Amino acid sequence: MKVKKVIVTGGTGFIGSHTVVELLQRGYDVIIADDLSNSKASVVDRIAEITGKKPFLEVVDLSDRTACLHFFKIHSDAEAVIHFAAAKAVGESVLNPLHYYRNNLDSLLYVLEGMGQSACRKLVYSSSCTVYGQPEHLPVTEDTPRQPATCPYANTKRISEDILADMVHGDEARRAKGEGMEGDNPWKILALRYFNPIGAHASALIGELPNGVPNNLMPYITQTAAGLRPCLQVFGDDYDTPDGTPIRDYIHVCDLAEAHVAAMEYLDKPGFEGIDFFNLGTGTGYSVLEVIQSFERATGQKLNYKIVGRREGDIEQIWANTDKANRLLGWKAHRGLDEMTLSAWKWQENLQKKA
Ligand code: UFG
Repeated sequence: MKVKKVIVTGGTGFIGSHTVVELLQRGYDVIIADDLSNSKASVVDRIAEITGKKPFLEVVDLSDRTACLHFFKIHSDAEAVIHFAAAKAVGESVLNPLHYYRNNLDSLLYVLEGMGQSACRKLVYSSSCTVYGQPEHLPVTEDTPRQPATCPYANTKRISEDILADMVHGDEARRAKGEGMEGDNPWKILALRYFNPIGAHASALIGELPNGVPNNLMPYITQTAAGLRPCLQVFGDDYDTPDGTPIRDYIHVCDLAEAHVAAMEYLDKPGFEGIDFFNLGTGTGYSVLEVIQSFERATGQKLNYKIVGRREGDIEQIWANTDKANRLLGWKAHRGLDEMTLSAWKWQENLQKKA
């Protein structure tokens, strides 16, 4: 059966909220499951302002097994799940690893168990380019070997991919032995490896809402330009890159949102079953200094920054080969770096107006 109703876990978060907008605009019904630990319930009002439709929000902690299974029982008519909900701060995960393993892995296991109780077997999972570590060859394809994780957060992504692959394998093995349950559909899972999502919706009504001091580059830039932080620290200019600063594949969050809908629709393609992995990036890498230059050019703001020492655990450079997603999902990122930095700034300005 084609997907009509979708459960989006973490749907009030940064990537989740943009994906919910895209789903609603394409006519899907959306149920959001979120514990609001790193987002606000009012995001659903902003989503309604953009789309004219208010998604249903269930405030639930998916790492609580009883609560999670109850949620899936109530919403057993959903045909697909997009599972964003997870904790994602690298530094915090180093300080509090058990919270990260429990939160990110328990919730995945319970979501799978909840789906297993109903007929829902279609899942889009949020993975990360962090599984590649510092690759030997660039750009990375989906076949580039994964590296040991550099922090507990990254490890939860790696382990989650393994859990999904093992589950699919077990399902296939049972079916091959004729032990599949009658009427039980095979699992269809895509794990999407995001590169560096930045930017915000063109309406400036939704965007990234970091808790406290931002860890990531883009919100740090916008908060510095807004006067909330005195100065951006650029972590190292002695890397083996053209300007000495690290290179990442920054992707507009709206391009990423569109990719999720394409991925979900791919699950309905005849012949697809099991699990597959996709890189979601633009295919172009930019250095930290190039992002700063783009921000200054696109917004007309002067940014106060200084070069300091390297940040521990940072990789030097990575960008994606996106051929597989372009070819199979029929999707391509089309928003450029200036559009990313300008939209992030407009969102920051909007936040300031409300504060
Ligand atoms: N950077 C600065 N100053 C800052 C913040 C970042 O110079 O204040 C630099 C970093 O050194 C890096 C680049 O900006 O070179 C991007 O840093 P981000 O923190 O924005 O992104 P990362 O690529 O380090 O992090 C990403 C994801 C994580 C993931 C991690 C794994 O955001 O989810 O990759 O390496 F775990």
